[in-house]
Amino acid sequence: MTRSASETPYVLVLFYSRHGATQEMAQQLAAGIESVAGIAARLRTVPPVSPTTEAVDPEIPAEGAVYATLDDLRHCHGLALGSPTRFGNMASPLKYFLDTTSELWMNGALTDKPATAFTSTASLHGGQEATLLTMLVPLLHHGMVYAGVPYRETQLLTTRSGGTPYGTSHLAGAKAERELDVDETALARAQGARLGCLALAMRSLHEEA
Ligand SMILES: Cc1cc2nc3c(=O)[nH]c(=O)nc-3n(C[C@H](O)[C@H](O)[C@H](O)COP(=O)(O)O)c2cc1C
Repeated sequence: MTRSASETPYVLVLFYSRHGATQEMAQQLAAGIESVAGIAARLRTVPPVSPTTEAVDPEIPAEGAVYATLDDLRHCHGLALGSPTRFGNMASPLKYFLDTTSELWMNGALTDKPATAFTSTASLHGGQEATLLTMLVPLLHHGMVYAGVPYRETQLLTTRSGGTPYGTSHLAGAKAERELDVDETALARAQGARLGCLALAMRSLHEEA
């Protein structure tokens, strides 16, 4: 089930960020999405998880994006999924949220919608591509159509930091000392704009008439 055609379509930028680097990327992707006329970006995050489960986080976080709901995901027209790299994979809070999406999977709610992924690492060869490739797997299970970053974005050939054809990435540094640089910013924006265009173009595949 999707929203009716009259409501403004949006791309969900769903991310987890502990120290802010992935959040910075999410904001650049959102700016790219919003550069496309006719589509909005909706920024949402997920709460942290801990080995002890007695404490429950407040429903609204103290700062930043609000927590995602299944309805945010159900009604999106595209998805940008962002996570810090953790041992070459997405962070567990994001995986935990995705593990609650069985109902959407059973109903095919995300099928034929475009998706992309982005990540941030401490080190240059610390697993950016591995993380992006592992992040796309659950999206394929949901029937989403994965879109990376095409080589027409020439920064892919010249970047000395983040940026991959599998999705964008950011080298934050061992002490999180690096801001997004010019190439990383341009690639994240281009990735967002491309996803926005694809979301509009693919709308008729899954939206009710
Ligand atoms: C448990 C854990 C595992 C991590 N694994 C990696 C890794 O495999 N490669 C890497 O370069 N950085 C690794 N990092 C560092 C984070 O990916 C990096 O600091 C990232 O920029 C944090 O993003 P954030 O500011 O959005 O939280 C790890 C950090 C933690 C806490």
